[in-house]
Amino acid sequence: MPGFRFTNPEEEELVQGVKVLVTGATGLLGRAVCKEFQTNGWNVIGTGYRRAQPRFLRCDMTDEDAVRRLLHEHKPDVIVHCAAERRPDVMERHTEAAVHLNVHATGMLAKEAAACGALFIYISTDYVFDGRSPPYGEDDCPNPVNVYGRSKLEGERESLRHCPGAVILRVPVLFGEVESVTESAVTALWLKVEEAAEDHCGALDHLLQRFPTDTRDVAAVCRKLAERARQDPSIRGIFHFSGKEQMTKYEMAVAMAQAFNLPSNHLVPLTEQPAAAAARPINSQLNCSRLELLNLSANRLPLKVEGHQERSSGSRIGLRFWPALGFCLQRF
Ligand SMILES: NC(=O)c1ccc[n+]([C@@H]2O[C@H](COP(=O)([O-])OP(=O)(O)OC[C@H]3O[C@@H](n4cnc5c(N)ncnc54)[C@H](OP(=O)(O)O)[C@@H]3O)[C@@H](O)[C@H]2O)c1
Repeated sequence: MPGFRFTNPEEEELVQGVKVLVTGATGLLGRAVCKEFQTNGWNVIGTGYRRAQPRFLRCDMTDEDAVRRLLHEHKPDVIVHCAAERRPDVMERHTEAAVHLNVHATGMLAKEAAACGALFIYISTDYVFDGRSPPYGEDDCPNPVNVYGRSKLEGERESLRHCPGAVILRVPVLFGEVESVTESAVTALWLKVEEAAEDHCGALDHLLQRFPTDTRDVAAVCRKLAERARQDPSIRGIFHFSGKEQMTKYEMAVAMAQAFNLPSNHLVPLTEQPAAAAARPINSQLNCSRLELLNLSANRLPLKVEGHQERSSGSRIGLRFWPALGFCLQRF
């Protein structure tokens, strides 16, 4: 298998011959999850839909017969369910199809996972909260403010209803190695940073508090959860994981400009939500202590990017964020 290597002989023994099925393997998070499990010795089967060929299996998660055949044929030990519609504004416009994928297909997959004895890990979101009283623990009451958040919350409930041993992992906005800059809401800010060269003003949200999170860290948490849950059945239910740095989109763009030694004085902070967009929580910070106490968290150390200037140590924002982001953007 390309990129296949074991990192540690104990892990090798634990996961030898163990199989993980990753849905949404063509997506931003799914790609990182496949890589993480593969490099740690797991057998990985990835599925995609429109972008599946040639690297992954094509399976429409809303097609019940196809999903049943997939599980019957591959008999995974673990399923990491990343496939979803995760764009809030698209969800408001195409609600029926997206709910079918985020809710009904999730329930059906969870049911099949329970039937074949696979551990089911469902990726959810901080958007299940309304953002009015952060930080949120796993037992706090969800109250989503948009269709996307409601569909993911319903997906969580369907997962636990059909597969009581399921693991739900809630994460905030993600960035990672992207195929195009617009693939992640974080890397998309690069387009605003670049507008300086065209003498444009880049207006950016400076109201909603975000916790940009590296897909490589989320992938590591998924793997650790899978490995621990296979040994300890008490590892089930809801977990929170998040990057630690709080930033608005405006602050992320400024950090990005500084990381690449570009001007940021054309960026304009906006303190009102645009009327046309789906409502979003003001601050849905996740309390991640459950994972931390179990030693299942992951936060990579700042990583140096060749040729990018070090930011001053007195700077308030982006100390972890900017080097990781530099890594994601360096090919653009
Ligand atoms: N991105 C974020 O900022 C963020 C934040 C919080 C939580 N999450 C959650 O993290 C998970 C992964 O998100 P992501 O950012 O990786 O999403 P993404 O990049 O948009 O990828 C979505 C994936 O779903 C697949 N898919 C779409 N329709 C499908 C269908 N009918 N059948 C099978 N597969 C289908 C896509 O396959 P093709 O592309 O091949 O069609 C793609 O692999 C989601 O559950 C999302 O809710 C994401």
